[in-house]
Amino acid sequence: MSAKLNVHLQEVPRTFPTFQRPEVLGYYSLNTERQFCDDLSELKYLVPHHRRKRKHNLNYNIEDIVKKDEDVNERLDTILQWILRNAHNLKDDSGTRLRTDFVCFRGLLTMLICTPYETRDDWIICATKWKGTIYLCAFETEDAKRQRLQASEHQKKCMAWGRKFEQHMATARPGGCPDIEQPINEKAEFCVAFQSKLKNHRLLYCAEMDCVKTDTEIKDLKELQKTEFVEIKTSRIITHPGQYRSLKRFKFMKWWAQSFLVNINCIICGFRNDEGVVEEVREYMVPELAKTSKDTWNAAAGLNFCETFLDFVKNTVKEESLEVVWKFDWGPNRDVCGVKLTGITDFSILPLWYTDNLILSAS
Ligand code: A3P
Ligand code: MG
Repeated sequence: MSAKLNVHLQEVPRTFPTFQRPEVLGYYSLNTERQFCDDLSELKYLVPHHRRKRKHNLNYNIEDIVKKDEDVNERLDTILQWILRNAHNLKDDSGTRLRTDFVCFRGLLTMLICTPYETRDDWIICATKWKGTIYLCAFETEDAKRQRLQASEHQKKCMAWGRKFEQHMATARPGGCPDIEQPINEKAEFCVAFQSKLKNHRLLYCAEMDCVKTDTEIKDLKELQKTEFVEIKTSRIITHPGQYRSLKRFKFMKWWAQSFLVNINCIICGFRNDEGVVEEVREYMVPELAKTSKDTWNAAAGLNFCETFLDFVKNTVKEESLEVVWKFDWGPNRDVCGVKLTGITDFSILPLWYTDNLILSAS
C-alpha cells in the first residue's frame, strides 16, 4: 500500500493556523554516558553579561571532544522512557489512551515546518500507531549519511565550535562563570517534554534545551515551567550582503521554527571567523526573525505545511500494530510518498519494553 501528498509552496495558505502555547510537561537529562536520568542534572544556566568572557576563542581543547555515536540510532527511546515514567499524568479523560495524537522530537517538527523552503536536504519519517497515538520518528537518509561521512575537517570543526560556544555561554550553576576547561561531551543533554496543539492535532514532543535565563537554582518542574529558555547558536561572520541573505534564507527559518515550537523568545548568536574566534555576539528576538525575513520565507506557510502533513499521516496510518510502519519520504521537488511496511524491519519504532509496559486502563 502507498500514499502521496503534493508539496507546492504556492498552494500553501499564508494565514497563521492556531498553535497552542507550548506547555512544559516534564524534563530529563542524558548523562555523559548517555544514560537516562530522571532529573535536572544536565540543565544549564545562561552566563550573565558581566561574567561572560570578553573574547570567545572556541578552539580550546576542541580536539578532546567526546562524540555521540552517530551510527547508533536511538529512535524515540529517550522519549519513550520519559513517557513510561510519566504515563499516569499523560492519560486523557477516558483514561485509556495518552492525551496526544502524535509523539515525536521537536527536530522532526522543525524539519516539517521548514520543508516548503528546503532546497537541499531530503527526509524520511516513519509512523506507527499504538493505542490511539501516532509515533513519528525521523531516519537518516542515504544522502544525509553520505554528507555526514564525507564532512570536511572544517565542517567538523564548525560543529565543535558550535558546541564550545554553548560552554562559553552556559554553566551548570546559576550566576556562574563559564568553565571551558571541561572537554565537550556531546552525549550529555538536557531535554524538556512539551505539549501543544497545531489546529486539531495534539502534540507531545521532547527537545534538547540549551539553557535557562535565571539567577536562582531550578529545583523542580514548577520552577522550570516559570523560567525562560534561551537558544544558543553560532554562525560565520558576515562580510558581504549575499551572506546576510543566505543567513536569512537558510538559518533564520530553522532558528525561528526550532525556537517557536518551545516558546523561546531570545536566541544568542556568536558570529565567528574561520579560525573559530567569535568576533561579535548578537541577540535575536524570535518574532523579529520572521518579520525581517518575510521577503524570503513565510512562517505561516511552514506551519500550514506541517499541519497538512500531520493530517495526511492521520488519514493514512489507521491500523494499530507494532509491526505496521508507514515510511514517508520527501526530497526537494518531489511529493511526499508513503509506503506501508509490515513485520519487524530496520524502520520499526516501538520496542516491546515500551508497549509491554505502557499501562493504560483499557489494556
Ligand atoms: P550551532 O547551532 O551553533 O550550529 P543546536 O543549536 O540545535 O542546539 O545545536 C548545537 C550545536 O550542535 C550546533 O551549533 C552544531 O555546531 C552542533 N551540531 C548540530 N548538528 C550536529 C551533528 N549532527 N553532529 C554534531 N554536532 C552537531
Ligand atoms: Mg543551540
